[in-house]
Amino acid sequence: MGKNAIFTLLAILYLLINIVASLNSSNDEYALLAFKSQITSDPNKILAKNWSQGTSFCNWIGITCDRGHLRVKGLNLTYMGLGGTVAKEIGELSLLRSLIISNNNFHGFIPNEIGKLSQLQEIEMQYNKLTGSIPPSIGFLENLQKLTISHNGLTGNIPKRIFNLSSLIEVSFGNNGLSGSLPMDICYNLPKLERLRISVNQTNGNIPPSLGTCTNHEILSLSNNHFSGRIPMEIGNLSRLQVLHLGSNNLTANSFSGRLPMNLGNLQNLQKLSFEYNQLTNDPSMLELDFLTSLQNCRKLKSIMMGINSFNGMLPKSLGNLSASVEILSADNCGIKGIIPNEIGNMSNLIVLRIEGNELTGTIPGTLGQLRKLQKLRLDVNKLEGSVPVNLCNLVNLYLLDLGNNQLSQ
Ligand SMILES: *[C@@H]1O[C@H](CO)[C@@H](O)[C@H](O)[C@H]1NC(C)=O
Ligand SMILES: *[C@@H]1O[C@H](CO)[C@@H](O)[C@H](O)[C@H]1NC(C)=O
Ligand SMILES: *[C@@H]1O[C@H](CO)[C@@H](O)[C@H](O)[C@H]1NC(C)=O
Ligand SMILES: *[C@@H]1O[C@H](CO)[C@@H](O)[C@H](O)[C@H]1NC(C)=O
Ligand SMILES: *[C@@H]1O[C@H](CO)[C@@H](O)[C@H](O)[C@H]1NC(C)=O
Ligand SMILES: *[C@@H]1O[C@H](CO)[C@@H](O)[C@H](O)[C@H]1NC(C)=O
Ligand SMILES: *[C@@H]1O[C@H](CO)[C@@H](O)[C@H](O)[C@H]1NC(C)=O
Ligand SMILES: *[C@@H]1O[C@H](CO)[C@@H](O)[C@H](O)[C@H]1NC(C)=O
Ligand SMILES: *[C@@H]1O[C@H](CO)[C@@H](O)[C@H](O)[C@H]1NC(C)=O
Repeated sequence: MGKNAIFTLLAILYLLINIVASLNSSNDEYALLAFKSQITSDPNKILAKNWSQGTSFCNWIGITCDRGHLRVKGLNLTYMGLGGTVAKEIGELSLLRSLIISNNNFHGFIPNEIGKLSQLQEIEMQYNKLTGSIPPSIGFLENLQKLTISHNGLTGNIPKRIFNLSSLIEVSFGNNGLSGSLPMDICYNLPKLERLRISVNQTNGNIPPSLGTCTNHEILSLSNNHFSGRIPMEIGNLSRLQVLHLGSNNLTANSFSGRLPMNLGNLQNLQKLSFEYNQLTNDPSMLELDFLTSLQNCRKLKSIMMGINSFNGMLPKSLGNLSASVEILSADNCGIKGIIPNEIGNMSNLIVLRIEGNELTGTIPGTLGQLRKLQKLRLDVNKLEGSVPVNLCNLVNLYLLDLGNNQLSQ
């Protein structure tokens, strides 16, 4: 074969590739128009005006194209007030990397065809009215880094395969009606996971100890579910953890029973810790709530929410050794006994102190008057005696003070 023939062949090949690419490109336009056709509400006429066939779709609002092929790479229609269903043709945008339709009024199902988008790195669909179940095909999107579909009406189980997508960094399923339990091996293949929010109505199940192996975890929110059993010790291994929400699990009966792991103090970056509304107890052989002592090493801690449990222990003097960064201590209705230690006056940045609904005895410590930033102080429904210390008048920022239902003298 002569050089010319080879050249001609190459040229034809090149042309063919371009034709195929442009075919795909017009396919993208077709897919976008199909998507538009299912938008039934566009109050600001954004797509109605802008997505018009006379112009290249790469210039349409919310669309980003790749440079080479004029193919759609990104679709971002967040906060546009759009309503309608998500067209299954979305699955034709084969080079799509980012699909963002959050904060709109989309309803109906998430089309299973989304699983054809093998390049997808990001799916954001939170704050819509999507229903049905999470399409299992999402579990095949090997490049997915971010999956946020919270605040919808999704039901059914979370497809287990999603927890096997090793690129995932952020997953948010919160505020749906999802059910089922988490796979026990949830973190075996999620080396990059940093944020996991599953506040979703899981009907049952334990918190998988393997969560302790997602070592990049920064936010772990499992609140408002029906998780039962113990808080696994392994959570104390998540040294980057900043937020740990375990509150409101199995609200009715004996749920999160058992004790708190004592190694939460390992979590040096922890800022928010909540495990209120459970059935947690203290080690019965200990008089004091020694898990509070264990939190001394959490030097960035800002809030501790531990109310509505069955601790049956005393506040330790070591309360005064908690980080000065603590602003909220909410420990109402959780079976605390004994006196309020004077050392509480060392928590100099406290803004909210709630210890109402316990069995506290003794007098109100005058050292509370040192908490100059205090805005909310609730000591009501306890067995406190004596007079109200005049020092409380120093609390110039206080707007809520409740001392009712005690045995205080005038
Ligand atoms: C065109 O799309 C098909 C599937 O829709 C895909 O397999 C192929 O790689 C695409 N070609 C180009 C050049 O993008
Ligand atoms: C659509 O919106 C884009 C981005 O705001 C703008 O550049 C373009 O001119 C608009 N096209 C039409 C036809 O309105
Ligand atoms: C999507 O669009 C919104 C509003 O235009 C913008 O704030 C946001 O950064 C965009 N998201 C991405 C990932 O580009
Ligand atoms: C999880 O992923 C690994 C490797 O990517 C694969 O070998 C394994 O079959 C997957 N397991 C499931 C249950 O999908
Ligand atoms: C959770 O489920 C209960 C019923 O089990 C329902 O009343 C509630 O609205 C659900 N919450 C969400 C956020 O879907
Ligand atoms: C994780 O925590 C468990 C229990 O606290 C411990 O036995 C284990 O050695 C820890 N693993 C790592 C990798 O730190
Ligand atoms: C809470 O846990 C108990 C014991 O495991 C179970 O019997 C009960 O059904 C659970 N309640 C809810 C609302 O999940
Ligand atoms: C508070 O910390 C100091 C200094 O580390 C220590 O000497 C003291 O024993 C601690 N107090 C309590 C009650 O743990
Ligand atoms: C902590 O509180 C105790 C009791 O009120 C007090 O004696 C001590 O000086 C305080 N320590 C610090 C560091 O403020």
